[in-house]
Amino acid sequence: MSERASDDWLDAATLYSAMAADYDASFGALAHRRAYDRLAGEIVGQLLPAGQGLILDIGCGTGRWAQIWLSLGHNVIGVERAQGMIDALTRRELGEKFSLMVEDMEMVDLSPGTADLVVAMGSVQYARDPTAMIRRFASWAKPGGAVCIYVDSLVALVLDLIRIGKRDEALMRLRSRRGVFTQGGHQAELHLYDRQALVADFKAAGLVDIQCRGLLVSSSAWGSEGCAKAMAEDEEGALNLDRRLSEFPVMADTGKHLIAWGRRP
Ligand SMILES: C[S@@+](CC[C@H](N)C(=O)[O-])C[C@H]1O[C@@H](n2cnc3c(N)ncnc32)[C@H](O)[C@@H]1O
Repeated sequence: MSERASDDWLDAATLYSAMAADYDASFGALAHRRAYDRLAGEIVGQLLPAGQGLILDIGCGTGRWAQIWLSLGHNVIGVERAQGMIDALTRRELGEKFSLMVEDMEMVDLSPGTADLVVAMGSVQYARDPTAMIRRFASWAKPGGAVCIYVDSLVALVLDLIRIGKRDEALMRLRSRRGVFTQGGHQAELHLYDRQALVADFKAAGLVDIQCRGLLVSSSAWGSEGCAKAMAEDEEGALNLDRRLSEFPVMADTGKHLIAWGRRP
């Protein structure tokens, strides 16, 4: 995974700027988004520092996660560079315990060994070199501090593509391990992960106590419409099934996303 992408990498900033206005609302409106968001929130919740701590929110978007952690008394530094997202975040008025670094995560200079928790929710797969980025996340954590990220799953995407009849693209994505997110006429290129590669990147970063699970592992069986139906019929039941399934590491790659966390020794 560590190969640096070429300079013609389709950067995510324009796409996320354009998505910013409706971004937060989409997690309420779209069942699968709401589902993986809730499941991810539960895992990150267990990694929060016991007292008041410092959390780095890399690719913080509109600041919706930062707002939760700030409300619990933590200090948060966000890193973001899509102007639309920054505008939405600024409107949130997150207060003086929050500071924003308007920078590319691959260039930003943060103090090593200072964070209790480094989080990258759905953002690091857009970096040109996510393997190097995970190493940098680990370096920003203090000894005993945690790193938690979630990224898109290669296997779940391939299964989806087969389901909708895009067989050639399924094979192409398996070979390239890269995807393209298209929205509103904009495109962003991303790296696609499997559990083994993600755990390998965490290990290479020197992290320990590594865990990796799928988020929304049932979606590969249900498809997005089936998932929406199951959520509409019984949201708690659907999430409970997912919580139980995702405890089995063998199910991880069927998750729409993979979430991994580990500690700096
Ligand atoms: C899927 S969104 C997630 C936003 C936020 N973490 C959340 O969960 O609501 C990905 C975010 O990562 C940001 N991002 C992508 N690549 C980035 C980079 N190289 N540097 C900084 N931010 C980046 C995007 O602009 C976008 O806001």
